[in-house]
Amino acid sequence: MKQSNHSRRNFLKKLGGSTALLAGGTSLIIPETLQAHTLVPNQRFTANDKIRVAGIGMGIMGFGDMQTALKVPGVELAAVCDLYDGRLIRAKEVFKKDIFTTRDYREILDRKDIDAVIIATPDHWHDHISIDAMNKGKAVYCEKPMVHHLDEGQAVIDTQLKTKRPMQVGSQRISSLSHAQAKKFYEAGEIGELNLVEATMDRSDAVGAWQYSIPPDASPKTVDWDRYLGDAPKVPFDPVRFFRWRNYRDYGTGVPGDLFVHLITGLHYIISSKGPSRIFASGQLAYWKDGRDVPDVVVAVFDYPKTETHPAFQMTLRVNFVSGAGGGSYTRLVGSEGYMELGGNNVKVVKNKLGTVPWYGGYDSFYTFPEAQQKEYVKQYEAKYGPGKPQRSAPKEQVYKEPDGHDDRYEHFANFFEAVRTGKPVIEDPSFGLRAAGPALATNMSYFEKKIISWDPEKMKVVNS
Ligand SMILES: NC(=O)c1ccc[n+]([C@@H]2O[C@H](COP(=O)([O-])OP(=O)(O)OC[C@H]3O[C@@H](n4cnc5c(N)ncnc54)[C@H](O)[C@@H]3O)[C@@H](O)[C@H]2O)c1
Repeated sequence: MKQSNHSRRNFLKKLGGSTALLAGGTSLIIPETLQAHTLVPNQRFTANDKIRVAGIGMGIMGFGDMQTALKVPGVELAAVCDLYDGRLIRAKEVFKKDIFTTRDYREILDRKDIDAVIIATPDHWHDHISIDAMNKGKAVYCEKPMVHHLDEGQAVIDTQLKTKRPMQVGSQRISSLSHAQAKKFYEAGEIGELNLVEATMDRSDAVGAWQYSIPPDASPKTVDWDRYLGDAPKVPFDPVRFFRWRNYRDYGTGVPGDLFVHLITGLHYIISSKGPSRIFASGQLAYWKDGRDVPDVVVAVFDYPKTETHPAFQMTLRVNFVSGAGGGSYTRLVGSEGYMELGGNNVKVVKNKLGTVPWYGGYDSFYTFPEAQQKEYVKQYEAKYGPGKPQRSAPKEQVYKEPDGHDDRYEHFANFFEAVRTGKPVIEDPSFGLRAAGPALATNMSYFEKKIISWDPEKMKVVNS
């Protein structure tokens, strides 16, 4: 970003506010947009009191989240809820034999000895359980995407504002040190004026394309099918729709809600953006014709309007589950002074400002001029720019790598539990969550309805429904 000292000071002032401490003493600026209001800490906590937590949805992410959450000092597992009995049995095997287990999350919310819940169910349950949990006084860590449908987001925000319970949305990468460093690079103007963002998250294997294993004992006896459907259309028991729910729009949000949302969250954090104003998507179901009703190739273009923290720019996101060339993921922010690339645990900045003086060699039209014109051209050129090819400064590269052992999910949970204990703001509150989920869900809308979606990033609403 090209900025005078004055405008840069204003810019940082606008971003300023409170800070959160990450591992290694790095502090993160939490933009004011994330500090919607003060949370109410649970008064009973002293430094030594345990925060008692319950897991709702104990599949892949539920297990991983719980294992991470329990590493945060002072956090203790109280109960788990799931709709497949095998996962309740597994939770007892992995965690504690005597934990309370149930198929009905309301039994967890009714317990007075539980302070916080981790919601890692399929997407169609996120809003219901988050709202019920906050209304029952629980703090909520809810996996991304925050909601299944665009029109569900405001009720989650309103409930959080009303109850003042901490709610963290689980796109953990924004708690990574590499994202913190990327934000510092961006705010220091390392890449100049942002022009373009491009990111991909390709996969080339069956599990990556959501063909998860189904346990041999899956049946209406071991799975609470009716409860699982919730507000989704009633259909007969189908273990595929239960264990591979991402493939169905009734329960999941496809590639955009599963993967784009991570990329959008990361970008919004780095550049302090509230989001795009136009979204267009295309794609197809190219390979995984296994009954799924979502595409396996999605390409989307997002138009970001100019704001105080960034100029107008375009972003392209692509996810491809059919890559014969292997998977792979990158996020690249291209600016007027260079570019920045985010890898899994690192960020690289290459300063490489474009020269603006044209050179008449190479593929220029110079050689199509008559000889006399060429001579005259060179004379005038050298008088203006000196002899020879104008020199560009060599690209300068800086690479930041996270220290070994740094775990963004741990930091995201630590930030959440800090909010539970003290009332400090979380890093990814429901407004931030909806501003990331919204454009992702609008991508689905664009794909299925074959139209450009106008999105109001301030009000978090589709403008042309
Ligand atoms: N942050 C990340 O990096 C990340 C990674 C993977 C998944 N996720 C998110 O985590 C969530 C779960 O994904 P997953 O891969 O773990 O799915 P999964 O299918 O492995 O697990 C979901 C579990 O939820 C249970 N469940 C369904 N409805 C329930 C209900 N009403 N009450 C209680 N339990 C219920 C199911 O029985 C299942 O065991 C999704 O929203 C997904 O987007 C986030």
